[in-house]
Amino acid sequence: MNFSLNAMKKSYPNTRMRRNRSAKFIRNLVRETSFSIDDLIYPIFILPGKNKEQPINSMPGKSRYSVDVLIKKIEKLHKNGLNAIAIFPVIDSKKKSKDAKEAYNQKGLVQTAVRTIKKEYPNLGIITDVALDPYTLSGHDGLIDKNGYVINDKTVGVLKKQALSHAEAGSDIVAPSDMMDGRVLEIRQALEKNKFYNTKILSYAAKYASNFYGPFRDAIDSRKNLSESSKETYQMDFANITEASLEIKLDINEGADMVIIKPGLPYLDIVSKIKRECSVPVFSYHVSGEYSMIKSAALKKYIDEESSVLEAMYCFKRAGCNAVLTYYTPEIIKWLNKN
Ligand code: PBG
Repeated sequence: MNFSLNAMKKSYPNTRMRRNRSAKFIRNLVRETSFSIDDLIYPIFILPGKNKEQPINSMPGKSRYSVDVLIKKIEKLHKNGLNAIAIFPVIDSKKKSKDAKEAYNQKGLVQTAVRTIKKEYPNLGIITDVALDPYTLSGHDGLIDKNGYVINDKTVGVLKKQALSHAEAGSDIVAPSDMMDGRVLEIRQALEKNKFYNTKILSYAAKYASNFYGPFRDAIDSRKNLSESSKETYQMDFANITEASLEIKLDINEGADMVIIKPGLPYLDIVSKIKRECSVPVFSYHVSGEYSMIKSAALKKYIDEESSVLEAMYCFKRAGCNAVLTYYTPEIIKWLNKN
């Protein structure tokens, strides 16, 4: 077929693009991507203590839960197909410190939660976040020097201990979200040395210094610690694209099994590029700010929530994502099961 512009122009009415859109059955047949509950990872905020549920102001409809409440909340979801969760701790301010040593406390909140959840739901995949921001007084993902600069190699030493403590507790996937250099290699070597051959590393390989993380920082209570300080000395500049390829190739070489590109919808050009360049599973994180934007518009009835969220999920799949972390997971499971 001749695809020159001239030939295309002549093709009407031989070609009418609307023919294949004229009825639902044909739209179904020519649909290029699919999306299912299997593609979802539910990020959840956990609290110390018992019988606690605290709504997150900047994320209407979402709460932080103590582990006992969380177990009850996910029972039905898991029965209805929830495949995996990612847990993020809210650490008591008294346990935050300069050296972030609570991060690798074997009796810490995350480690205890993993053991409890695994016992209850052995087939539910658990992803734990490897980063120090819930644990540092500075609110940064790493340890800082006297000028407030995040020190790379010393931080990696702590991240390695943190990842190992997660693996020992039974985490299936450790997910370094800190953007330090060389941490995937150190974590991989520590896991191998300790015989955690099947513990997977999901690297937040291309994580941008984004304004869309705001509500998350409220949720884990790190915003006031971080104050006016930014994460631009370790997270990527949102103006960059080629740099993402190098970040991802380095992390694959260091031993990452999968990578995350983050945030979600505004960064799908990166996903699409990486899917073409690298043979690696790519996940995307539909982050807190993206959740809150859709939610707020839906609450005001500016957009329809269900159809907008499902559309967003197809966009992730179309760009090439294998899976998506989204706070909308419970709602999506409900919507898909209803049909
Ligand atoms: C930090 C971390 C962040 C998110 C996940 N892990 C925030 C940050 O980098 O400040 C954001 C997720 C979201 O906004 O939903 N380790």
